[in-house]
Amino acid sequence: MSAVSYILREASARVAGASALTELDEIRIHYLGKKGELTSLLKSLGKLPPEEKPAAGQVINAAKNELQNLLNAKKADLEKNIADINLEKESIDVTLPGRGSAQGSLHPVSIVQQRIEDLFLHMGFSLERGPEVEDEHHNFNALNIPEHHPARAMHDTFYLENGLLLRTHTSPVQIRVMSERGAPLRIISPGRVYRCDYDQTHTPMFHQVEGLWLGDGVTMSELKGLLDKFLQSFFEHDGLAIRYRPSYFPFTEPSMEVDIKINSEYGITGWLEVLGCGMVHPRVLSNVGIDPRESSGFAFGMGVERLAMLKYGISDLRLFFENDLEFINQFGR
Ligand code: FA5
Ligand code: MG
Repeated sequence: MSAVSYILREASARVAGASALTELDEIRIHYLGKKGELTSLLKSLGKLPPEEKPAAGQVINAAKNELQNLLNAKKADLEKNIADINLEKESIDVTLPGRGSAQGSLHPVSIVQQRIEDLFLHMGFSLERGPEVEDEHHNFNALNIPEHHPARAMHDTFYLENGLLLRTHTSPVQIRVMSERGAPLRIISPGRVYRCDYDQTHTPMFHQVEGLWLGDGVTMSELKGLLDKFLQSFFEHDGLAIRYRPSYFPFTEPSMEVDIKINSEYGITGWLEVLGCGMVHPRVLSNVGIDPRESSGFAFGMGVERLAMLKYGISDLRLFFENDLEFINQFGR
């Protein structure tokens, strides 16, 4: 049976040299498959004389077993290699530096609004909020701006279909708080307001902080003292050029607007209006049931974006609302 040992030797060599599972399978089929070399030998046993059959059969079966064992061992070997290669490929290098996560920051308008709130809270004011969707009573009438009053034209109002409107200033919060609580009062009210306005220093949505100080004998000099102190603290600048300019609001008398000198390096020069203020008009006090002979006070409404422009040296207010992250991320704290 030297043919069997010859086949076995040849097969063993091929198994040893195999480098892929598919190659191993081809070898198995070639020798042990239905028409394989060893299988055919076994089938040809019938031609042998009966006395030789058992011995020959044993030799062939032993060879088949041996080859099967070799195939199994090689298969295990190749599979282990593949697993190793995969492990290598899929391994994670834990020593590599991490990707890092971007840290968000507050929007510059939020930063400035919080700074304004903090300064007034330290000066004894408390915080109130009012609705952005208002009615004509709170936004206009109670503030001494009846229908057909020319001052309504100063507010380019967004009216809603249901007769309500988007508040054009934070002053309606004064009306709400005074009607509910009467005098004395010392409040601020920050929030969004809306006007149909759009240019370098105007956007259709912007923020105001309203202030109201109502008491017994509160005067104009206290108004000026408070605003001077606030603006100097806000800008951290004692020698700030502040201008009080006589103005007109139906809900205050007398009224003023306050401008701040712009540093020429900001790209615009001159004065920028940052707030309106005045002594609360006696008719407004009567409208909310407060006796103007007993209480007096002042109110102011400042533009948060305007203060942010000056604080950060930004020449176009619209930049605050373009959501350009490169711009916004400069202000993080
Ligand atoms: C008022 O809105 C008054 N309610 C302020 C007030 C309150 C006066 C209490 C007296 C007593 P005015 O329309 O001037 O006033 O607006 C106030 C501030 O908001 C302005 O000084 C400016 O800083 C800012 N502002 C006005 N319109 C815009 C706009 N379209 N975009 C950005 N800021 C604006
Ligand atoms: Mg104004």
